[in-house]
Amino acid sequence: MKKVITDLDVMGKKILMRVDFNVPMKDGKITDENRIVQALPSIKYVLENGGKAIVFSHLGKVKTEEDLEKRNIEPVALRLSELLEKPVKFINATRGKELEKAILEMKDGEIVMFQNTRYEDLDGKKESKNDAELGKYWASLGDLFVNDAFGTAHRAHASNVGIAENIGVGKTAAGFLMEKEIKFIGGVVSNPTRPLIAILGGAKVSDKIGVIENLLEKADKVLVGGAMMFTFLKAQGKKTGLSLVEEDKIELAKMLLEKGKGKLILPIDTVIAKEFKNDAEFRTVSVDEIPEDSMGLDIGKATIELFEKEIAGAKTVIWNGPMGVFEMSNFAKGTIGVCESIAHLKEATTIIGGGDSAAAAIQLGFSEKFTHISTGGGASLEYLEGKILPGIDFISSK
Ligand code: 3PG
Repeated sequence: MKKVITDLDVMGKKILMRVDFNVPMKDGKITDENRIVQALPSIKYVLENGGKAIVFSHLGKVKTEEDLEKRNIEPVALRLSELLEKPVKFINATRGKELEKAILEMKDGEIVMFQNTRYEDLDGKKESKNDAELGKYWASLGDLFVNDAFGTAHRAHASNVGIAENIGVGKTAAGFLMEKEIKFIGGVVSNPTRPLIAILGGAKVSDKIGVIENLLEKADKVLVGGAMMFTFLKAQGKKTGLSLVEEDKIELAKMLLEKGKGKLILPIDTVIAKEFKNDAEFRTVSVDEIPEDSMGLDIGKATIELFEKEIAGAKTVIWNGPMGVFEMSNFAKGTIGVCESIAHLKEATTIIGGGDSAAAAIQLGFSEKFTHISTGGGASLEYLEGKILPGIDFISSK
C-alpha cells in the first residue's frame, strides 16, 4: 500500500506538491482546466491543515528559447489562485535566491507556485533526464513530498522521481487525485469487480496494442470501436473502402482476433461518408457492405445496441478512445451512445481511461455520470498495459 497525503503530518511543514498542470492552452488562455480542478483537494488539504504548499508542474515541452514564453505557466498560477480564492505567490524561476527566499518567508496555510519545471530542459534536459543534482536541489526546498501528478506518472523525471529519491525515506505520499487514479485505473488491471467490460476506440491499433493485449487477458469482454475497427475488419477479410486501415498492423490484428476469440467484439455496422467532413452525405451500412468509395467514420445504430447489451451486466467498465469522429456532430452518435449506455449502469464502477474519451465525455456533458474520469493520457494507457509507472513506484509504502 502506498502512503497517502493523510498519512503525513503537514502542520507547519513545507510540502512540495508535484501536480500535473499540463493543461491545453490557446493564446495564453486555458481551454480545459480539469487537471487544475482535480488537484484542488490535495492543495486545500495541505493549506487547511497548516502546511505550506509549494506547487509545481511541467507545461508542454521546452526545447528552444521561444518555448520559454509559450510554456510560461504563470496563467495557470493565476487560475489556481482564482479557484482557491487565495493568493498564490508565483515565482518566475525554477531555482535560485528568489524562490528560496519566498519559501523561507512562507507562513502556514500559504501557497507558492514556481515556473514550469521543464524550463530546466533548455540546458541539458535536466528535468526530463532526472538530473541527480536537480532532484536533490528541489528535494532540499521542502520537508515532505506529495505527488499528485498522475498524468506524469509514466515519466521518471527530476520533479517526481528525483525528489522522491532525495527527500528521505517515508516522506513521499500520493495526493488524493493520485490515490483515486491508483484505485480506479490500477484497480482495473489488478483486481477488477467482474464482469469487467473494456471498450476501446480511437484511430490506431498501433497506439493501443499493449492495452488491447493486457485487457484481453484481464477483461471478460473487449468491445472495439473507432477507426481501429477497420484494421480488424480488414484482418477478417472484409472490404473497408477508404476507411483508415493500418496495413502494417493487419497481421497483428489477426493475432489479436485469434487470442480474443469469444471476447473481442467488433462492430456490425458503420456510418459511412465519401469525404472526411461533417456536412458530407452519410448513411449506415453493415460492415460487410462498405463501398469502395466510402470511409467509415462512426459505429452504427445496431452496434450501439449490441454494445449496450454487452455493457448491461457489467460491474466494472473501462472505456478508452472514442467510437467515431466525435468532433463532427454527424459522426458523434456512437460515442454519445456508448457514453449513455455506461452512464445508465446503476451498480457498476465506470471509468474513463483519459485522453480523447475523457475530453469527449466532458464535452458531451457526461462528466458527472462516471465513477472516475482519469486525468492521464499516456500514463493511463501505460497503466492499463500493466506497466509499473515510476511516478507511482517511487511513492513511499505504508
Ligand atoms: C500528459 O499530458 O500526458 C502529461 O502531462 C505528460 O506530458 P508529456 O507527454 O509531455 O510528458
